[in-house]
Amino acid sequence: MSDTAHDHHRHGHDHGRFGPAKALFYFFRHLRGAGNRHVLSLAEITPTDTVLDIGSGPGMAVIDAVKRFGAEHAIGVEPAGVLRAASVVRAAVRGAGASTKFIDGTAEALPMPDACADVVVAVNSLHHWEDVDRGLAEVARVLRPGGRFVAGDEDFSNGDHPRGGDPHADWPAVDYDRVVAGFEQLGLTASTSRATADDLPLNIVVATKP
Ligand SMILES: C[S@@+](CC[C@H](N)C(=O)[O-])C[C@H]1O[C@@H](n2cnc3c(N)ncnc32)[C@H](O)[C@@H]1O
Repeated sequence: MSDTAHDHHRHGHDHGRFGPAKALFYFFRHLRGAGNRHVLSLAEITPTDTVLDIGSGPGMAVIDAVKRFGAEHAIGVEPAGVLRAASVVRAAVRGAGASTKFIDGTAEALPMPDACADVVVAVNSLHHWEDVDRGLAEVARVLRPGGRFVAGDEDFSNGDHPRGGDPHADWPAVDYDRVVAGFEQLGLTASTSRATADDLPLNIVVATKP
């Protein structure tokens, strides 16, 4: 995709990186985790899978990938230090410390080798990526052949969303059709769908690397 075609994804203002106060707000807001569990349930995790969560926030999906879905290794990439620190503590408390890692990084520059992940997830994270094209290319790079990507974002524009006034409503919506087109240009198979998890309307994108 051209830069122009994806300008709507480059939000051009700093709503993505979380300072300590905003990070703590999201820490408590996301403890319920319905979106995370729904996305993980679509990822078809098997015990030998290495799972990567982009924008892992307070660590919900990383910990659940191990504790609820049986992954041997799960890694969170998260730019906010306070959230990484909180995730390490939560993982230890949940007994997932040995199987989880939380590392500094962004979707646009994943600090991971090529073909290292069987499953990549991103929950309420895509709309924070400053350069979605680069993020998609990074997902394609780190996925192993046969690996899958599942993203889910709460749809705050949906009238059924219980928190229509959430701050996310002010942020640019992700254009999932363009995400699908971006993955297809990278040689992946991709599709979008809608779901509801615990009353939360979600936009979902699933992509598979051949
Ligand atoms: C709304 S929170 C979601 C956190 C978590 N995935 C969850 O559902 O609980 C968005 C997260 O994306 C992170 N983030 C911001 N910019 C990012 C980027 N460019 N790449 C990856 N993550 C980013 C934020 O620090 C924050 O933790």
